[in-house]
Amino acid sequence: MIQVKSHIASMGPYSPPWTGLNRSQYLRLDLNENTLDPPEHVKAALKNYIDQNRIQMYPEYENFLSKLSAYAQVDSSQLILTNGSDQAIELLLHAFLESGHIMVIARPEFPIFTQIASAINVSVRGVSFEKSMRFPFEAFMDAITPDVGLIVLINPNNPTGTPLELNQIEEILKRYRNIPVIVDEAYYEYTQITSCGLLENYPNLIITRTFSKAFAMAGLRLGYVIANPEIISQLYKIRGPFDVNSCSLIAAQAQLDCPESWKAYVEETMTRSKPFLENFFKERRIRYFPGAAHFMLVLPQNRDQAVSYLKEHGILVRPMFAPLIEKTFRMCVGNLEQTQEFAAVFEKYLQEFDS
Ligand SMILES: Cc1ncc(COP(=O)(O)O)c(C=O)c1O
Repeated sequence: MIQVKSHIASMGPYSPPWTGLNRSQYLRLDLNENTLDPPEHVKAALKNYIDQNRIQMYPEYENFLSKLSAYAQVDSSQLILTNGSDQAIELLLHAFLESGHIMVIARPEFPIFTQIASAINVSVRGVSFEKSMRFPFEAFMDAITPDVGLIVLINPNNPTGTPLELNQIEEILKRYRNIPVIVDEAYYEYTQITSCGLLENYPNLIITRTFSKAFAMAGLRLGYVIANPEIISQLYKIRGPFDVNSCSLIAAQAQLDCPESWKAYVEETMTRSKPFLENFFKERRIRYFPGAAHFMLVLPQNRDQAVSYLKEHGILVRPMFAPLIEKTFRMCVGNLEQTQEFAAVFEKYLQEFDS
């Protein structure tokens, strides 16, 4: 009987929620995706690309990289495209971690980091967020011992929404100049906060981003790394030459060329929809942790009952199971109309079960 390596055999699988469910029939507030249909200009660009008989050719990246460098305001030599930012995380952990190393991350965290660390047999030191969901800065610093091979900062963190201050990030970069520090900026479009300005002084800084969230392209799988050119050239050695598919580039280019619709969506989400939702919870004395991005943790009296009720009424939110947040669900906010729909259903739930 052939066997995989023992540390892989002893890992649990990463199981996405709602396997087998037709999510397109629901209002999807569960995976922090863009909640609208892709814009017409993106669909038209994809259709046009297919009609031009281009998908039989391997992808080329140069043109898109120069577009992306203008958007991210860094040089093309500081960028590498990846198959979703999940692949960026995978490349980075493979590049930097080896047996005996420890990866430090604040917990609860986006689980892919720990899953990949386990796959390469590296231990993870998780430092718990504070009860208020603040970043545990002192405890985090204390956790960085000489055997730490990689520091991970998710800004803002998923699922807690916790933002990090740029001066805290800089302090970590400065104090641990010999340790690579990943700053995951999956939600950059929502916060407009980036560590890019620190790249020049801190070659140990590596930023990851994604087109899965505000850009409405989760199904196409496009992410990227921003780092100093030396690190980028090392990452090219371990990424497949054609791992990023050409359709993702077409859609991303259309989004970067005509940013009006995704920017308007982000603006509506952050300045109208999220405040509306916060107000709704406040008025009903339901605890929630607003976070810095377009999603939040909610702590109803009976989480499982609330999640089931929402699902029965066509709305998906994500129950959380990690310590500290095991009684919450995470939901993202869509546009105002969708948030009002959520509020109407949740109001009915409160009247029926929670009064
Ligand atoms: C913090 C964070 N990083 C990375 C990702 C992965 O995104 P993707 O692989 O779709 O680019 C996610 C997705 O939810 C996330 O929340």
